Amino acid sequence: MNKRDFIKNTGAAALLLSLGIPLESCSSETIIPASPNNNNGNNGGNGITIDLNSGSYSALKNVDGWVLDQANGLLLVNVSGNINAFSNICPHQGCTTAWSYAGTKFTCGCHGAEFSNSGSLIAGPATRGLTQRSVSRQGDILTIS
Ligand code: FES
Repeated sequence: MNKRDFIKNTGAAALLLSLGIPLESCSSETIIPASPNNNNGNNGGNGITIDLNSGSYSALKNVDGWVLDQANGLLLVNVSGNINAFSNICPHQGCTTAWSYAGTKFTCGCHGAEFSNSGSLIAGPATRGLTQRSVSRQGDILTIS
């Protein structure tokens, strides 16, 4: 790219940005800015109570059962009988709804980042793991904080 093209292209980009028009987008996916402490703000800092006997949460009673809980902003998975909970906000660009789980790993469908069932980053483009949430369990009742 020559000097003239560079100035022309960067000027167009600056104009789009000044008008609030993004240069690219992820998809129709809901995007929430990624932040290590972002939990969708829907628990107000109080615990989220989940009954494993209610609705789709019953999948968590089985090893490798998992749930994308959009209402509470959570990814949940049963790992050898223990429930792990994470924010459902992908640490790459914040997609929240494109999750799948297979072979003990989560995959974000927006750009393909992969995470272990303990939240560790397996493959990018994300550069860090999932944000873990604390889980306490009494029988079939979970409290997520
Ligand atoms: S938002 Fe890009 S991989 Fe999840």
